[in-house]
Amino acid sequence: MASAEASRSSATPLSPSANPPLPDTAGAASAAAPAEEDLLVVRGLKTFFFTYDGIVRAIDGVSLRIRKGETLGLVGETGCGKSVTAFSITRLIPDPPGRILEGEVRYRGANLLWNLEKEAQYRENPKTHRIKIRRRFRAINAANQRMAAVRGNGIGMIFQEPSQAMNPIFSISDQVGESLLLHRGIAIIDELLHATPNSPEALAAIDRIVAAAADRRTTDMREACRELGVAAITPSAGTQAYYLARAADGSTDHLRADILRALGRLRLSSSQRTYLAHRRRLLVALNELHQVYAQEMRGGHALGSARRKLEGRMRRERFAHFYYGVWGVRSRIQKTLKDELFWRVVAALEGVSIANPVQVARGYPHELSGGMLQRVMIAMALAPDPGLLIADEPTTALDVTVQAQILELMRDLKSRVGSAILLITHDLAVIAEVADRVSVMYAGQVVETGPVREIFRRPLHPYSQGLLASIPRMDQPDRELSSIPGSVPNLITPPPGCRFHPRCPYAMPVCKTARPPLTVEGPEHEVACYLYKGPVAHN
Ligand SMILES: Nc1ncnc2c1ncn2[C@@H]1O[C@H](COP(=O)(O)OP(=O)(O)OP(=O)(O)O)[C@@H](O)[C@H]1O
Ligand code: SF4
Ligand SMILES: [Mg+2]
Repeated sequence: MASAEASRSSATPLSPSANPPLPDTAGAASAAAPAEEDLLVVRGLKTFFFTYDGIVRAIDGVSLRIRKGETLGLVGETGCGKSVTAFSITRLIPDPPGRILEGEVRYRGANLLWNLEKEAQYRENPKTHRIKIRRRFRAINAANQRMAAVRGNGIGMIFQEPSQAMNPIFSISDQVGESLLLHRGIAIIDELLHATPNSPEALAAIDRIVAAAADRRTTDMREACRELGVAAITPSAGTQAYYLARAADGSTDHLRADILRALGRLRLSSSQRTYLAHRRRLLVALNELHQVYAQEMRGGHALGSARRKLEGRMRRERFAHFYYGVWGVRSRIQKTLKDELFWRVVAALEGVSIANPVQVARGYPHELSGGMLQRVMIAMALAPDPGLLIADEPTTALDVTVQAQILELMRDLKSRVGSAILLITHDLAVIAEVADRVSVMYAGQVVETGPVREIFRRPLHPYSQGLLASIPRMDQPDRELSSIPGSVPNLITPPPGCRFHPRCPYAMPVCKTARPPLTVEGPEHEVACYLYKGPVAHN
C-alpha cells in the first residue's frame, strides 16, 4: 500500500546516498567489530518523522555503546532526541509518521534493524520535493514479531509518560500480571502445578504465622510467610497469607482457617492441570520461536523451516486453546491463574516500595498519582529482570525522597542481575550519582561521550560546558550561573555543519559548512567539535 507523506525536502536530502559527505563516524564505525563486552551497540542511527510541515530529522547519525553491567547517561535539552533514540532502539517509533531510515542497533550481537531496507521504499518527487513512502507491511510485521522477542525479556523500558504507556481500561494487576505471565509464565505455571499448600512444612509455617500475628511480631510474621511461600512451592502463598495476617489485626481466631481456605485455590483439578500443561506448551513454543528470531537477527539470514515448524506447533496449541474455552475449562482455571498473578503483582509492587500494594493492584491507572504510576511502570519493566533497562526520565515526575528510592532500585537491579542501564534525564545531578559514562546529545546528534568524572571535570564540547555551567554547585557558592543563549533548533531545518554553531561562542567558518567528526580526546573520551584535533573515533 502506498502512503503519501506530505513533506518538503529541507536542509539536507533524505536519501542517505544523496547526503553530503559527512565527516561522520557512522561509516567508519560500522567497519569496526563490536567488542566482546558490548551489550548494546548503536551506529549511525537515523530516525525521521515525515510530517505535513516537513521532515523532522529527530536523530541523525547517533552512535552509542553500552557494556554489560554499565550505566550510560544520556543528557541534553528538551527536544534533543533522547526519547526518539530510546524508541528507535526498542523499535517503538510511531510509524507513520516516524521511520528509522538507517543505522545499526545490535543487542547481544543480534541486529535489531535486520532487513530494515526491505520495510519501505522512499521516492522523492523532483518537482515538489515531497517524499513518497511505500511501506511493506509484511516486512514491518515480521520486524515487530522479532522485536517482541527482544522487548521485555531482553530490553525493558520505563517510559517518560507512564499515564500514556498504560491502558486505562485494565486494572494494574491485569497489566502487570500480563507482563509477568508473558516473561515468567513457564516458571509460574511450573510452581502452580507443583504447589503443596497442605504439606507438613507449609502447615507448620502457617502455625508460626498465626502465633506471630497474635503477638503482633511483624518481622517474625514476614519471615514465616516467606517460609510458607517456600514450603508451598509458590511465593504467592506467602504474600497472600501475609496480607490476611495483617488484616486480622490481632484477632487471630479464624486466621488459620482463613489462610487454609485462601490457599485452597492452589489445589487443582485434573482438567485444570491439563489446561495449565497446554498453556505451558504454548509458552515453550513461543520461547523457542523467540530464540529462532534472535538467531536470525544474530546470523543475518532467515531460518524459515525452523520458524514454520514452531509456528505450526503454536497454531495447534491455539486451536486447543479454543476448545478448552468451549468446554468451560478455561473459565474454571482463569480465576486460579488470575489470583496467582494478583499476589505476584502485589509482591512486585512491594518491591518498588508501594505502601498499599493490594489496593494499588486492584486499582486502575487513573486512580494513581504520577509517582505511583511511575513505580508501577518500573515494577513492570523490572519484572522479567531485563539485561538492558532503558529508563526515560524515570524520576522527573517524582519528589526527591522517592527519586532516591527509585535510583536505589535501579542500582539493586544492576547488582542483582548485572543489567546495564541507559538512563535518560535532564538532571545532571542524577547522572553524577548513578551513571558510569555519559553521552551528551544536541539536536539529534551525540556531541560528546566520556566517563562521568571526566565529563564533569573536563567537559570539552562548548554545549557540555554550557550545560554544566548552568547547574548550581555546593562547592562554588559564589559562582554565577550561566545559561546557553538561544534554543534547540527546529529539526525540520537544522543548521548545516555543526548544529550547535548558532549558539556557540567559539564558532568558526568551518563549523557552518561541515559536520565535525568525533575525535578521541582521552581514554574513552570523544567529542565532535573542530576545537579538538585528536584522532577520529571508530565506535
Ligand atoms: N511523533 C512525532 N512526530 C513528529 N515529531 C516528533 C514526534 N516525536 C518526536 N518528534 C520530534 O523529535 C524531536 C526529538 O524529540 P524527543 O521526544 O526525542 O526529545 P527529548 O530529548 O526526549 O525531549 P524531552 O527532554 O523534552 O523529553 C523533537 O523535535 C520532536 O518534536
Ligand atoms: S564545531 Fe564549532 S560551532 Fe560546533 S561546538 Fe565546536 S566550535 Fe562550536
Ligand atoms: Mg523525552
